[in-house]
Amino acid sequence: MTDAARTTATISRLGHQGDGVADGPLFAPRTLPGEIVSGIAEVSRLTSIRIETPSEHRVQPPCRHYKSCGGCQLQHASDSFVADWKTDVVRNALSAQGLETEFRPIHTSPARSRRRATLAVRRTKKGAMAGFHGQASDVITEISDCQLLEPALMAAIPVAEALALAGASRKTPLAVTVTTSEAGLDMLVKNGKPLDGPLRIELAQLADRHRITRLTWDDEPVAMEQPPVQPFGTALVCPPPGAFLQATREGEAALLDGVLEITKGAKRIVDLFAGCGTFALPLAQAAEVHAVEGEREMVAALDAGWRKAKGLKKVTTETRDLFRNPLLPEDLNPFGAAFDAAVIDPPRAGAEAQVAQLAKARTRVIAYVSCNPVSFARDAKTLVAAGYSLDWVQAVDQFRWSAHTELVARFTLKD
Ligand SMILES: C[S@@+](CC[C@H](N)C(=O)[O-])C[C@H]1O[C@@H](n2cnc3c(N)ncnc32)[C@H](O)[C@@H]1O
Repeated sequence: MTDAARTTATISRLGHQGDGVADGPLFAPRTLPGEIVSGIAEVSRLTSIRIETPSEHRVQPPCRHYKSCGGCQLQHASDSFVADWKTDVVRNALSAQGLETEFRPIHTSPARSRRRATLAVRRTKKGAMAGFHGQASDVITEISDCQLLEPALMAAIPVAEALALAGASRKTPLAVTVTTSEAGLDMLVKNGKPLDGPLRIELAQLADRHRITRLTWDDEPVAMEQPPVQPFGTALVCPPPGAFLQATREGEAALLDGVLEITKGAKRIVDLFAGCGTFALPLAQAAEVHAVEGEREMVAALDAGWRKAKGLKKVTTETRDLFRNPLLPEDLNPFGAAFDAAVIDPPRAGAEAQVAQLAKARTRVIAYVSCNPVSFARDAKTLVAAGYSLDWVQAVDQFRWSAHTELVARFTLKD
């Protein structure tokens, strides 16, 4: 390739996926604002990128797999740059809705703290290989030195490879979701061979040999040595296979600290999109909680965890689709006995319908936990228009080196 065929561009900002963006727009992965870069322009994407003038925020990526692996997007940027960029993503989303607020310093999970990951695992000529997909590619890259995953999760790599040898077809890679738990590895395998009698026996033996505490094969339970419990406050909960769990213990603790601070003093709390009780069960140490969640099995896990725990206040549960059927003011203020506070932690789409009802019910304090600054800002606008103040936002980065940002925010009803 001659230099004449190369385009030179100046990166002005990062896009939502963490790619550098130059005029055009021209997307240049793994570049930073202010950098002059050159490469081959293919429609709106720059490839074969050379950094002509590096940013002062460019650093040596800490992971040796970064070049080929698609698991991380921002290892070439300094921690301080990423912290400021993620905070600005939230600030800009709010400002697009005409809102501003106080920002607490971002909480970033440490390296090697991810407790859950989905590994791609395929059979090879020599055996099997587990890793992450490469950047925008189906190729699986090895991750033996991964800087993201907890050591206990790293230990799952050879186990996932053994599972592929036993039960992957030659054509389709397995998707193995691994979660570390108090009891050991909790593994859910998708895309495996059909579970016939001999395979079931082989997998059960393999689970025993590799100390997999629970093995689920395409939604079928294969082995459970002990329930793979997660601690939520003083309760121990056994989530359904593959159920949502905050990505790192540190990120969960930062979000929970915010939720506890916001709801402090409340005697009755409603926890909306409650999952398996990440917030509901710790909150029940000091308040009665009504936990509402769309997945029946998660609700059952939360309820079982509460029943086994000692010393918690009353927790009631409800399975409900909060998009189609949000709690209404009469549900939120039953018999005049209003909830003093609400916790809401919706999926990426946000909680448009439920937030409108919270505003109508005039629930005094709301702890909003979000994994999508754009839907959060939309819902924040609804609350502010209804007379709430957005007191502060704490950004929480538990997807270190990715473009994701999470947050917890406090809304209070103005008198
Ligand atoms: C971001 S997770 C939060 C879960 C929990 N608060 C936690 O921290 O572990 C969002 C939760 O919303 C649930 N969910 C998704 N769509 C829903 C809906 N339409 N109605 C009720 N719950 C829903 C998911 O099952 C998931 O548990």
